[in-house]
Formats: sequence, structure tokens, C-alpha cells
Amino acid sequence: MDIQSKELLDKLNTNHSLTLDEYEFLILNADEELRALAAEYARVYQKQHYGNRIFTRGLIEFTNFCRNNCYYCGIRRDNHECERYRLSPKDILECVDAGYELGFRTTVLQGGEDFAYSDQDICSIVSKIKELHPDMAVTLSIGERSYDSYKAYFDAGADRYLLRHETANPKLYEQLHPEELSWEHRMDCLKNLREIGYQVGAGFMVESPGQTARDLAMDLKFVEEFKPDMCGIGPFISHKDTPFAKEKSGTVETTLLCLSLIRIIYPQVLLPATTALGTIDPQGREKGIMAGANVVMPNLSPVTVRKMYSLYDNKICTGEEAAECRGCLERRMESIGYEIVTDVGNRAGF
Ligand code: SAM
Ligand code: FES
Repeated sequence: MDIQSKELLDKLNTNHSLTLDEYEFLILNADEELRALAAEYARVYQKQHYGNRIFTRGLIEFTNFCRNNCYYCGIRRDNHECERYRLSPKDILECVDAGYELGFRTTVLQGGEDFAYSDQDICSIVSKIKELHPDMAVTLSIGERSYDSYKAYFDAGADRYLLRHETANPKLYEQLHPEELSWEHRMDCLKNLREIGYQVGAGFMVESPGQTARDLAMDLKFVEEFKPDMCGIGPFISHKDTPFAKEKSGTVETTLLCLSLIRIIYPQVLLPATTALGTIDPQGREKGIMAGANVVMPNLSPVTVRKMYSLYDNKICTGEEAAECRGCLERRMESIGYEIVTDVGNRAGF
């Protein structure tokens, strides 16, 4: 570890802020020793705010129809190899009930941008969940919608919304998405969600095609300034039926470094050890927790549809029932001295 990197990491640990150049320098010069030290600093905050308690979210991937065509994503509109499915409101509520019994107190409804579900449909699913389980938080992750739609879901009872910003650099955004999608619009959505009162999740892919250390530095700066309540980050992983099929996937090392830096930048942030991280490394989620993450998101979708929600190749946990996934993660977390808790799992200080 060179002296300058160590000094920058210490400065970040004191000020929770660096300049863009400094973030870039850290990313470019991080070696194993620096990454280990960043993880050590990150765990101090993780322990301070969350102890050894790991929050879970029960993820229900309720539709893989999507009107968008992001170049990286396996469920993009133009992937005609993708077998499509939709869960009915009844199916969704059954998954939620099963999740509740298993101890989940947050459910995440995620899907492609599928307008077959009207705002009214979404609102009635959300309000039904809140009626049946008032102590459960509902997170939506259904992409870019109008202010009024977001407001309607919120009024129906949705507590949180995940919308990864994908990249803080508008130029890189253009390289990852077709022209019809705009970085400005995505940012406006995030601002609207915050204004409405949601706990907001942003996030980005690590080492997506064309991404530079400067781009990652911009993502860190964005987290520092926007302070999302949650930040979902995972490695980019190629999918065979997308324009990025031949691109290299992201690495565990850079993903872990980003997790640690984000925990240091914003000590209270909710930080998942993602399925994508578990996909590129069999111990990825454990390593993510040891790097400062405090959330895991096992899958509650029916096993019959799991494989169809294929965002990237070789996604893990597509054959396991919800209870198996929960048990598996409990054991994994115990093996590293952490404990999965039955808790609504709000951000510390929210
Ligand atoms: N449609 C909603 C949206 O756009 O926010 C939610 C679903 S979208 C599939 C969820 C996230 O998956 C995206 O924000 C993206 O970061 C991630 N993702 C998609 N394709 C990926 C890939 N090939 N590798 C890693 N992450 C990917
Ligand atoms: Fe799904 Fe391990 S978390 S099988």
C-alpha cells in the first residue's frame, strides 16, 4: 500500500468526503492491503450502526416483461430468447405470505418495466400487503415512472423504492443504454422519489463495459452527495443474449472495494451483498458483508419462474425454494459471525 493511498483512505475515514481526483486515485492504486484496510474501517461503521445484525429483504421478481432495451440486461425487450412470465396479484400475495412466515419483514417487488400492471394494480397489491401485514415494509423496484405514479404507490403504502442510477456519468449512461433512455430522466426520478418521502435506493454496476476508474469515482461522489438510503451495487455480468455478450464481467475485488468505500462515505447506508456478487464468487455475499455490507436479498419468487428472470448468465439461487435460500443465507452469515434478523430493516437514523 503506498503512502498516498493510505493517507487518502484515512482522510476519507475522517471527512467522509474526497474530491473526484482523490477517489479516482484510490481506485486506481488500491492493492490488497488497502482493500483490507478499507474493509476494516467499513466494518467499524457497520458494527456501530447495525452490530452483527444482517437485514433481509424477500425479493419477488414478479414480471420479466420489459419495455426497455438496456444493452446489458438479459430481460431487455429485444431478447427474443427470453421466455416471459407475469405473476398474478394472487401469486404475489402468496409469495409475500410465505415470506412473512419465514421471518421477512421487507418485501421487494421487482420487475421489468411492464405496463401490463396499471398504477391501480400496483397500488392494490401494495395496499393489500400492508393490510395483511402492517409490520412489513414494501419496496418497489419497477423502474422509471411519473411523479404521479410514484406518489400513488407511496400513498398506497409503499415505503421504499429501488432505482439504481446505473452510472453517475451521463456519457457512460449513453453507452449502456439506447437513445430512448436518458440519464437526466433517471436522475429526475430519483429526486422525485426522495421528495415524495420514500427511503430511496440508488446504485450502480461495477466494471460495466467502458467504465473507467473516473466513472466509479463519479459514482462514489454521487453517493456522497445524494446520500441514498440504500445503495445496491454489484458487478456487471455478461448475458449471452445481449449486445454485451462478449464483454468481460466485473471483479470481486473492485466490487468489494466500492462496498467498503461507500460504507465509509455514508456510514448509515443500507448496503446489500448482492446476488450478482454471489454469482461471480461462491463466497461473494460473505465477502460483501466482511467488506461492510449489511443486507441480503434472498429470492421469494416461485421456483417455476426463477430461471426466467435472467438478468445475467449463471445467476445463483434459481433452483432453491424460499425457505432453502433463507436457511442457506442464515448459515452463511453465521459462518462469518453475523446473524440474520427478523426486522423491518430501516436505515439507521431514518
Ligand atoms: N426495471 C427496474 C429498473 O430498471 O430499475 C428493476 C429491474 S432491473 C433488471 C434491476 C437491476 O439489475 C438494474 O438496475 C441493473 O443494475 C441490474 N442488472 C441488469 N443487468 C445486469 C447485468 N448484466 N449484470 C449486473 N447487473 C445487471
Ligand atoms: Fe439461495 Fe443460498 S441464498 S440457495
